[in-house]
Formats: sequence, structure tokens, C-alpha cells
Amino acid sequence: MATVIDGKQVASSVIDAVKTASQVLKDETGVKPGLAVVIVGDDPASHAYVSSKSRMAKECGFTSVQHTLPEQTTQEDLAALVQSLNEDESLHGILVQLPLPKPLRSEPIIQSILPEKDVDGLHVVNAGKLATGDLDGGLVSCTPAGAMVFVRQTHGADLSGLNAVVIGRSNLFGKPMAALLLAANATVTVAHSRTRNLAEVCRGADILVAAVGRPEMVNADWVKPGATVIDVGINRIDAPEKGEGKSRLVGDVAFKECAAVAGVITPVPGGVGPMTIAMLMANTVIAAYRKAGRQAPSF
Ligand code: GUN
Repeated sequence: MATVIDGKQVASSVIDAVKTASQVLKDETGVKPGLAVVIVGDDPASHAYVSSKSRMAKECGFTSVQHTLPEQTTQEDLAALVQSLNEDESLHGILVQLPLPKPLRSEPIIQSILPEKDVDGLHVVNAGKLATGDLDGGLVSCTPAGAMVFVRQTHGADLSGLNAVVIGRSNLFGKPMAALLLAANATVTVAHSRTRNLAEVCRGADILVAAVGRPEMVNADWVKPGATVIDVGINRIDAPEKGEGKSRLVGDVAFKECAAVAGVITPVPGGVGPMTIAMLMANTVIAAYRKAGRQAPSF
């Protein structure tokens, strides 16, 4: 049976380090880290995520600002809000929750955020720094940064000789995750919906990271015995066994059967999920340190 990573516990130790760093910055420079979170529309899941981000920012001692905009918001109004947040000296991080409701286009909005305030790590400047291996100069996307904390805890900082397979090639996760693994010297394969013999590719992985958005797609015979399995999926599925109309969260990995084969595995919920918020707080405090001309802590 695999060791099951407790994401809540790891996230809480990152949050403790963020709180300390935030207090030190305030004491030494008078700067209080500030995070703005923007949400457009009424999607309940997005609202739940955003509320926990805003709440955690307050808990970390940050200035926390939330802008909740109606579904009908225009591209121009959203762009104007981002512009004003860019200019606000009290804010060090800006996060626009994705996806945006149609017909809003997210790409021009994301690219209009100042790179030094882009705590999501999605601006081309930050993506480019990561792609070129400049891990200390930019800001790294929160979910891959969180997944990497688990990888480092399990395998150390140097992944030389290890095969890593990332299933999924999104800008938000798959591509930055692959870049982080590569920067740590892993031999990296990025698999996706067009990959042939996916099961076979996955069976070669010492580190298998699943981010496909398909409930319990990865099963036990895809997993190399003793592998580290990181599940980034969050899928809500019907759970009639809990009662009529009830649902439950599952990942992209069939947890129980894969846990019998893997060496280390993350659960859903309670694995990568809590780390995303923790790394957002970490990125915000890093951005505030840099703005204050201080050497930023690493997490
Ligand atoms: N929607 C789901 N995950 C994320 C994330 O990490 N950042 C943003 N901005 N939106 C998301």
C-alpha cells in the first residue's frame, strides 16, 4: 500500500512559512502584501475557490481585495479593472479566476496583468522564464508549484535518472509542470489526448502526474510498481450511494487500485488542491518582497 500524502498538512506548513515571511516584511519595511482576486459571473465552484483564496489571504495578514463582477461584464470593463489593479501600489498580486464566462477572452486579460503581479504565473514573461529555467526570477503557476513540493519531499531536489510523465498539456498546469520537472533534471514526457499507447507510456513513469479532467481514468495497470502518483484532477461525479442527487469529488486517478501499486500517491480531495491556495499565498509574499527590494523567500 502506497504512502498517502496529506496535502492539507503540507499546505498548512507552507501557510505558516508565508505568515512568518509576511510578518517579517511588515516589521522590517512596513510593506503589507496585497492580493486582488477577480471573479466574473456566477459559477458556484469558481465562487467557492475564490472565497477561500480571499479568506486565506486575510489569514496570512495580507491586504485582501475581491472584485465580483456580473456575467454581463464587457471585455473593456474587465481590462479597465485590471489596469487599475496594476496601478495600485498596495497590491502585489492579481488573480483573475478562470474560466471567464463567454464571450470574454481570457488571454488578453491575463497578458495585461503586470508580470511582477501575475501570481498565477500565466503571463508570457513568467511562462518564458520558467521555460528557460529561470526559476528564481519569475512567478510559477500555483498548482504545478504545489505538486513540485510533493515531488521534492519524495525524491529530493534532483530528479536525475527518473522518468516523469505528465498527462495533460494545458498552459495552466501541464506545460509548467513539465518545465519544473525538467528543470529538476527528470526525463519528461508530456502525454495528452492524442498520445498513442497512453497506458504503456505511463507504465514507464517513476513520477506520474495526471491532469486530464477525466474521472478515475488512470488505473492500476498504468502505474509502475513503487511510482509516485500525483493526481491533479478534481471531478464531481454522481454518488447515488450517498442519497438521491448527491455527488462526490474524485481525481483523474482510480485511487484505491492505484494506491495498491504506487509507492506514494496523493488523494482527491486533500492532495494537490490545498497546495494551490498555499502556493498562491507564497507567490503573493514573494512578489511583495521583490517590490520592496528584498531577497524573496522560497517555499
Ligand atoms: N481556475 C482553476 N484553477 C485556476 C488557477 O489556478 N488560476 C486561475 N486564475 N483560475 C483557475
